[in-house]
Amino acid sequence: MGKLVDKIAIVTGAAQGIGEKIAERVLQDGASVIMLDVNFTKLQQTASALDSSGEKVFAMKCDVADPDEVTKTFSTIYEKFGKVDILINNAGITRDSFFHKMTPAQWHSVLDVNLNSMFYTCQAVIPHMRAQQYGKIVNVSSSSSWGNLGQGNYSASKAGVLGLTRTLAKENGGKQITVNAVAPGQINTDMTKDLPKDVKKMATMLTPVGRIGDPAEVASVVAFLASDDSSFVNGECISVSGGFLMV
Ligand SMILES: NC(=O)c1ccc[n+]([C@@H]2O[C@H](COP(=O)([O-])OP(=O)(O)OC[C@H]3O[C@@H](n4cnc5c(N)ncnc54)[C@H](O)[C@@H]3O)[C@@H](O)[C@H]2O)c1
Repeated sequence: MGKLVDKIAIVTGAAQGIGEKIAERVLQDGASVIMLDVNFTKLQQTASALDSSGEKVFAMKCDVADPDEVTKTFSTIYEKFGKVDILINNAGITRDSFFHKMTPAQWHSVLDVNLNSMFYTCQAVIPHMRAQQYGKIVNVSSSSSWGNLGQGNYSASKAGVLGLTRTLAKENGGKQITVNAVAPGQINTDMTKDLPKDVKKMATMLTPVGRIGDPAEVASVVAFLASDDSSFVNGECISVSGGFLMV
């Protein structure tokens, strides 16, 4: 019997990469999965590949950086499903630039998608989770939270995610809601595929296991944090980086 049977899970940024693998994993563990992404064409393809029957996987277009869209999407979800047990905030982007050259658009777009989105999505579910006295929120941060060249915007957003995670964990633990984060190191997805070869080589050299990670290796840790196996883990950040980052 899967660990997430009868659970309703939302995964943001689920059309590809780490989000796709998280959706696949929580589905395997028994949950019904609502997959959200701004790229609806890709999302529909991914969702139907996971569950062609459409009985346990649902694809909905949602730009998580748009507060009105999040409000509408989540109210449709509550009308249709009645509850949300698990929220996995995974959607993220990079707009890398050295800080002295960074444009306001690069700064704001990254903060909007990576951090402000979590204000919208968490506000949409936490009142319901408090009422049902159950909830699991998992936020995807990054090893870049600790600072990274050319990623002032991304690093600030992902460090903000950790502050938000710990605060929500403190505020809501008493209602049997846990809020945790993962900090992936370099993972093999579209986000990293165009990085210069020497950057990839350096990341591999600095990773004790000697390779970059697979999205499924992040998904398994997220699934643990989304399950009752982690019932006494709250406000934690688990590094999923092959030892690149030891928190
Ligand atoms: N790949 C890595 O090395 C790595 C490392 C650390 C953290 N992360 C984090 O993991 C998460 C997933 O990254 P990935 O590597 O799978 O990237 P990816 O680019 O492959 O996938 C990101 C997904 O998010 C979606 N998305 C982007 N903006 C959105 C928005 N406004 N609303 C809804 N969906 C949106 C994209 O359409 C895409 O499907 C991100 O938060 C990223 O910052 C990735």
